[in-house]
Parts: sequence; C-alpha cells; structure tokens
Amino acid sequence: MSKKSSKWYHSHISDEFVKLANKENWRSRAVFKLKEIDEKYNLITPNSNILDLGSAPGGWSQYASQKDSSVKITAVDLLPMQSIENVNFVQSDIEDFANNFLKKDKFVKIDLVMSDIAPNISGIDSADVPAMLNLADMVAEIALNTLNDSGNLLVKLFQGKGTDNFLKEMREYFEKVKIVKPKASKSNSREIYMLALKLKYKSIN
Ligand SMILES: C[S@@+](CC[C@H](N)C(=O)[O-])C[C@H]1O[C@@H](n2cnc3c(N)ncnc32)[C@H](O)[C@@H]1O
Repeated sequence: MSKKSSKWYHSHISDEFVKLANKENWRSRAVFKLKEIDEKYNLITPNSNILDLGSAPGGWSQYASQKDSSVKITAVDLLPMQSIENVNFVQSDIEDFANNFLKKDKFVKIDLVMSDIAPNISGIDSADVPAMLNLADMVAEIALNTLNDSGNLLVKLFQGKGTDNFLKEMREYFEKVKIVKPKASKSNSREIYMLALKLKYKSIN
C-alpha cells in the first residue's frame, strides 16, 4: 500500500460514520447524508417512485427501501450493485441511461430524483468542479424530464466556479432551492447538496 492510500485507509476506518455504517449494516457511510436530509425534509414518502443516480454500492437505495417498503426505486450506476428489495438496478452511464430509457417514456412519474454521483476526483479544483457540474447538468436534465409536478431533486455538487449559476438556473424550475451540508459530508470537502423542492415546470425542452 502506498503512503497516501495507507493514510486514506486509516482515516477511513477511524471515521465515525464508517464505523456506524458497519455496525448498522449499511452499504456506505453516504447513507447518513441522505438519512439526515430525509429526516428533516421527508423526501421518501409512501408509494413514491424514486430515481437514484450514481447508486453503488447502494446505501441510498438501501435506506429508501428500508424506510418504506412501498417505494419503487430505479437505481443507476456505472459499477455493478448487489440487489436490494424494491430496487430495479440498471448498470449504465447516466447519459446512456437518459438516451436509452427515458426516451422510451418509461419514466414519466418520478417523485424524487436523488444523485450522489461524483466524478473521479483529481484534487485539482479547476478540473473537479466543472466535471461535477457537467454531471449535475445531466442529472438536472433527467430530473426536469421525469419528475412529477411538485417532484423533488437532491443532487451532489462541489462548491466552486459555476455552481452559483447552476443554482440560479434551478431556482427557475423549482419553488425552493436549498444548499445542505449534512454532518457526514466532510467539512474539509467542497461537497454540498442541492435540494430543489417542488418542480414548477415539467420540462426544459
Ligand atoms: C459516492 S458514490 C455513491 C454512493 C451511494 N449514494 C451510496 O450510498 O452507496 C458515487 C457513484 O457515482 C457513480 N458514477 C460516477 N459517474 C457516473 C456516471 N456518469 N454514470 C453513472 N454513475 C456514475 C460511481 O460509479 C459511484 O458509484
């Protein structure tokens, strides 16, 4: 193990959320980010249709499925994901997913689009922030074309150049747009989440 990966490994296993995720049998520490946001805003409601973009290893889908067994989840990731009850998993890039599935009108009534998608991080802000915004734009396009009237969107972003413009644009489509930084999101990271509540318009096309 290199010095850098050994340092990462030690800070990972001593992380309180990693310990809690292991103890409570969650697939990822990321579950605590969704849990905190959901406990405040009640995003996962009975019978809702949910799209989980960038879902692997599956913590968010697992949380939603366990919170309410009546929800239906479609989860998408480049990587494989072990099956979860009530979750239909599609292994795909989100762009291909949008082209191959959404155009067939299979997803007309989504209540919540949630995206924890992250690009491969280089550590260089001038590369990572635009890469994240590019993914967030794709997520927003999927959301704007699939959400029910009054549907909600939760998407991971990095703070940086261009992020304010993205938020400004989203404010045109949703009644409320908030920035949330759950406790499990590391304070030294640029990671934030945009929570856009109640879609006003059906499509950007
Ligand atoms: C932080 S992880 C998600 C963790 C997940 N929320 C959980 O709780 O287990 C981000 C995921 O985004 C996926 N991803 C990145 N780019 C993607 C893309 N273009 N299309 C689909 N998935 C992508 C990665 O493969 C990775 O599994």
